Amino acid sequence: MKKRVFSGIQPSGNLHIGNFLGALKNWVASQDQFDNVFCIVDLHAITVPQDPKILRQKIREVAGIYFAAGIDPKKSIVFVQSAVSAHAELAWILNCFTPMGWLGRMTQFKEKSGSQKENVSAGLFDYPALMAADILLYDTDEVPVGEDQKQHVEFTRDIAGRFNSIYGETFKLPKPVIPHSGARVMDLIEPAKKMSKSDDRTGHTLNLLSSKDEIRSAIMGATTDSLKQIVFDPKRAGIYNLLEIYEGVTGLSRTEIELKFAGIGYGEFKKELAEKVVEFLEAFQSQYQELVKDPQHIDSLLADGANQALVLAEKKLSEVKSKVGLG
Ligand code: AMP
Ligand code: TRP
Repeated sequence: MKKRVFSGIQPSGNLHIGNFLGALKNWVASQDQFDNVFCIVDLHAITVPQDPKILRQKIREVAGIYFAAGIDPKKSIVFVQSAVSAHAELAWILNCFTPMGWLGRMTQFKEKSGSQKENVSAGLFDYPALMAADILLYDTDEVPVGEDQKQHVEFTRDIAGRFNSIYGETFKLPKPVIPHSGARVMDLIEPAKKMSKSDDRTGHTLNLLSSKDEIRSAIMGATTDSLKQIVFDPKRAGIYNLLEIYEGVTGLSRTEIELKFAGIGYGEFKKELAEKVVEFLEAFQSQYQELVKDPQHIDSLLADGANQALVLAEKKLSEVKSKVGLG
């Protein structure tokens, strides 16, 4: 029996190289090794305001990105979260076992709500309970995500443990899997900040659907420092980030990279990095363009995925309901 992997991305904003290196790339790399379920988490997206037309477009766009990156619908279940209502139902049940204090400690909530804590939606506060439902419905062993989601997977383990201790063994405890490199890709201009999907300022992000010129100019304009050596030093956030991106797109080792750029200036290194990213995105984008020519095909793959997910999810949900005494 293969282990089960579950992960997801929200269909909002613009997917960037951080989403690829932190998540997608690793999903694709271990696809044959696991039993995979990959979700487009639209119910999470509406925890902040969304334009309905754009949300619908983004759902297809993210699906296209999954497939273009190499997620194979023959090997992995790919579906849209709202198409399987068990996610919302289990989230409600888990809600009732979630202490407010646990939710209040979530770093992402604190960051996203900022000084607006009284005005943001209850959904944003409760977001981790829905993410726990996503993961627990499928008896997930591993959750491959970027660093920022680690706390949510740990929350999922805690809530599963709490439920199991009340009702007996029901949920498997999932483990977060964070990549060694690329788990937290930083903003190109402000390398103290994480690269973010909702950031549409020119030059701050490398989007998976950006043009070659945008990529080149963002990399050439990236913040570095006044030291000259090109080495992997986490204390030098700007250059370290660019080196991690280089490592992620080329697959070379850190030693190989440092040797290659020994004695070379930042300008040359950035040019070389830009060409590698452009090369990588060219192949990816041509797959993507091919796929989105046929939106009906994407919709039918998603419908198949939802049918497969439904069977697994309903089974777990009915076990939970019967334990709790519902229905
Ligand atoms: P999100 O953009 O929040 O929907 O995240 C989708 C996936 O990408 C999650 O696994 C995140 O942890 C990962 N991710 C998001 N931003 C970054 C980043 N800047 N660096 C690495 N991984 C990221
Ligand atoms: N919260 C995740 C993010 O913003 C997306 C997500 C929702 C997810 N449900 C999930 C990731 C389940 C992994 C597993 O990145």
